[in-house]
Amino acid sequence: MIKEKIVKVETSKRMEEIISLCKRRGFVFQGSEIYGGLGGVYDYGHYGTLLKNNIRDSWQKSMIQDRDDVYLLDSAIFMHPTTWVASGHVGNFDDPLVECRKCHNRMRADHILEGFGISADKMPIDFINKELDKLREEKKLKCSTCGLSDITSAKKFSLMIKSNFGSPTDELKEENVVYLRPETCGGIYLQYKNTVDSLHPKLPFGIAQIGKAFRNEIAARQFIFRTREFEQMEMQYFIHKKDTKEKYEMWKDVRMKWYLEQGIPKDKLKWYKHEKLAHYASEAYDVKYDFSSLGGFDEVEGIHARGDWDLSQHSKFSGVDLSYYDDETKERFIPHIVETSAGLNRLVLMFLDNAYTEDNLGGEKRLFLKLPKQLAPIKIAVFPLLRNKPALVEKAKEIYDILKTYFMCEFDDNGNIGKRYRRQDEIGTPYCVTVDFETIEKDNMVTVRDRDTGNQERIKINELKEFFAKKF
Ligand code: GAP
Repeated sequence: MIKEKIVKVETSKRMEEIISLCKRRGFVFQGSEIYGGLGGVYDYGHYGTLLKNNIRDSWQKSMIQDRDDVYLLDSAIFMHPTTWVASGHVGNFDDPLVECRKCHNRMRADHILEGFGISADKMPIDFINKELDKLREEKKLKCSTCGLSDITSAKKFSLMIKSNFGSPTDELKEENVVYLRPETCGGIYLQYKNTVDSLHPKLPFGIAQIGKAFRNEIAARQFIFRTREFEQMEMQYFIHKKDTKEKYEMWKDVRMKWYLEQGIPKDKLKWYKHEKLAHYASEAYDVKYDFSSLGGFDEVEGIHARGDWDLSQHSKFSGVDLSYYDDETKERFIPHIVETSAGLNRLVLMFLDNAYTEDNLGGEKRLFLKLPKQLAPIKIAVFPLLRNKPALVEKAKEIYDILKTYFMCEFDDNGNIGKRYRRQDEIGTPYCVTVDFETIEKDNMVTVRDRDTGNQERIKINELKEFFAKKF
C-alpha cells in the first residue's frame, strides 16, 4: 500500500490564500483527505471542475473548431508495454533523487542545485553529485524540511508508474509491466496510422487529445502545479522535415496568442529556451507564466520539435510501416512532429493565480476572482432580495429557469444580499441579478451587478437574455 507522509513545506502567503479559497469554495480538495491525504493527488469540486472544463473547452475550440487541420483522439491510458520501451521512457524517464537521512524528506537534486544558480536540467548524475559535494563541503546542502545537513547522494528515480494490468501481481515480470502513461502523446503515435487510413488527411495535419497522465514525481508539493496524476492537452503536428522551422514558429505564435486571448497579461508570460533537451527533442521552448503564488516564472506548456523520433521508433519496434506517401511529390517519408503540450491542472492554477484580486468596494475590503468571463464557472447568479417573500422568490426562479437554458447559472437565496455577492465574487461570477420589490410592483426590471466594478444597472426582464448574450 502506498503510504507517504504529506510533508508540510513552506508555501508563499499567496499560495496559502489560493489553497484556502479552493477548499472553502469547492474548487480543489486534497485527494483522500479523510484518510490523511495521498501525496500529489487532488480532487476537483463543483466550481473547480467547471473552471477546468471551461479551460479545456477553450483549448479544444482553438485547436479543432477554429482550424481545419487538427483532429481529435481519445486514446486509452493503458498501452502495450513496448510503447514506453520504444519511446525511451522505460530507460530514460527519471529525475535525480536525494533524501534526508534524518526526516526522510525526498528532494529533487536538480531543483536544489537550481536554487544555488547551477543549471542541472537533464544533466548526468555524476555532474549532479559533483555539484552536490561542493555544496556539502561548503555546508550549504540542507534538507528543505528539517534543515539538517545529512543528505544522500543523488540517484536516478524513474517517474514511470507501474500497474499489474493483465498479470497476477506476484507473477509480474518486467517485460509485462503495463505502465500508466506518463504523457498523452504516446496514444497519438500509436493511432497515427489508423487516423491517416480513416480520415485521409494531407500533411501537414495534427492530432490532439486531452487526458490523464501519471508521473511518480519526487516532490509533488506545489499544490496542483506538480502532481502525480494530472491532465495534459497535447497536439502533435505531422509535417515534412523541411517545414520544421516554419511550423514550429507558427505553433509558438498560435499558442502565445491563446494565452493572451484568455486574458493573461503579456508581461506575465515569457518564452524559455531549453539548452539541454529531452531524449526525443531537437528544439524545446516553454511558455512560462509569472506565478505570484510560486514567487516567479514557471512552466505551463512546452512546444517541442520531436523530429521523426516517435514514428521511427514505433515503426522499428512494432514492425509496422508508419511512413507517409505524398501523392503530389511522390515522396515517401516518416513525418516529423511539432508538439504543443500544456498541463490542464497547471493552467487552472495559472488562471486562479492571475484572477485572485483584493480590492476595496464601497469602503469594504473584498476578495474576488477576476476570471475571464468565458472561463468563469458560473456566468450569472440570480437572487430574490429576500428569501421569505414568496413573490420575489417565485419571480427570481422564473428568471433563473429561463437564463439557465442559455448560460451556466446559479440560484441563491441564502443569507443576506451582501453575503451572496461576496460568495459569487469569490467564485468569479461575472454578473448577479437581483429581483426586488420594484421588479414585481413597478417596472418588471431587475438589478444587474458587475463583478469587477460593483456597478449596478436596471435591465428589463424580457431583455435579459439579449443583454447577457452580448456580454458573453
Ligand atoms: N509530451 C511532452 C511532455 O509531456 P512535459 O514538458 O513533460 O512534456 C508538458 O509536460 C506539460 O505537462 C508541462 O508543461 C506541464 O504543464 C504539464 N505537466 C508535466 N508534469 C506535470 C505534473 N507532474 N503535474 C502537473 N502538470 C504537469
